Amino acid sequence: MARSLDSIERIGVVGAGTMGSGIAQVAAQSGYDVVMRDIEEEFVQNGFDSIESSLDRFVSKDKIAEDEAEATLDRIAGTTELSDLADCDVVIEAAVEDMDIKQDIFADLDEEIPDDVVLATNTSTLSITTIASVTDREESIVGLHFMNPVPVMKGVEVVVGEKTDDEVVEFAHALAEDLGKETWESDDKPGFVTNRILMPWLNEGIRAYDEGVASKEDIDKGMKLGTNVPMGPLELADHIGLDICLDASETLHEELGDRYKPAYLLKRKVDAGDLGKKTGKGFYEY
Ligand code: 3HC
Repeated sequence: MARSLDSIERIGVVGAGTMGSGIAQVAAQSGYDVVMRDIEEEFVQNGFDSIESSLDRFVSKDKIAEDEAEATLDRIAGTTELSDLADCDVVIEAAVEDMDIKQDIFADLDEEIPDDVVLATNTSTLSITTIASVTDREESIVGLHFMNPVPVMKGVEVVVGEKTDDEVVEFAHALAEDLGKETWESDDKPGFVTNRILMPWLNEGIRAYDEGVASKEDIDKGMKLGTNVPMGPLELADHIGLDICLDASETLHEELGDRYKPAYLLKRKVDAGDLGKKTGKGFYEY
């Protein structure tokens, strides 16, 4: 059974977007061989580009040496084939936040990856239990919810599905700690600890702006200086991506009712294609 860190040499990551490439990077920086898979070559290349620029930032700040950055990149292989993850000792899925897509990926992983391998999902709001239900190894499926930007943020949320084995939960904590992170644990309830509390905070910031309580700059400044957080709600929403905030809010709204209703202006911005930092415009311009 691949439950001890001693038996882990190679980590598979499904998805090379912001979260997947960040997870691949921290795994490789921690000395693991990594196979990073996305559905198109271009997405895999984009993943490598963001890893390179993140490593460059660490090098320029003297946080890591140049040869360490090179060794990190050398430890990561890119692929578009899920079957290339077959010899991984653990797989972390970080694809888009869509239940059908995640279930398809997990059904395929269940076929391709040996039965005793733990499959983790980086889902931010979707149910671990529902994702796991399409596999024959529900006890080996667990949530490992990293925070954005993964290479910098210290925290990882371990999410326990209805059928997740205690041993797998312990393994998930140990793995995240080995990647240099600190963990906490949440039951498989919508949004877990972080997004259940963060999403209403972001939506309330957006509503306060829409309802003219203050300028966006003053809302962000008020929350930063008033509560000592690194970013106010509007800049943090832009940082996360407004489409991701809307998806997460809609899931919470569906599962937990009206107090989680997404702000009207959040929907309008997403409809307009202004998704935050990644498109150059959200509440602010970048
Ligand atoms: N790779 C490497 N280094 C990076 C980096 C990256 N991707 N992003 C930032 N850094 C480094 C910078 O080089 C800098 O290093 P230094 O301290 O040695 O100078 C440090 O991190 C701080 O970055 P900056 O100076 O560029 O900017 P800030 O001081 O504004 O920090 C931030 C940026 C780390 C993003 C900080 O503003 C922050 O912590 N913001 C809050 C982020 C947050 O809350 N994330 C969680 C979102 S919720 C989530 O992810 C859950 C999901 O499910 C929605």
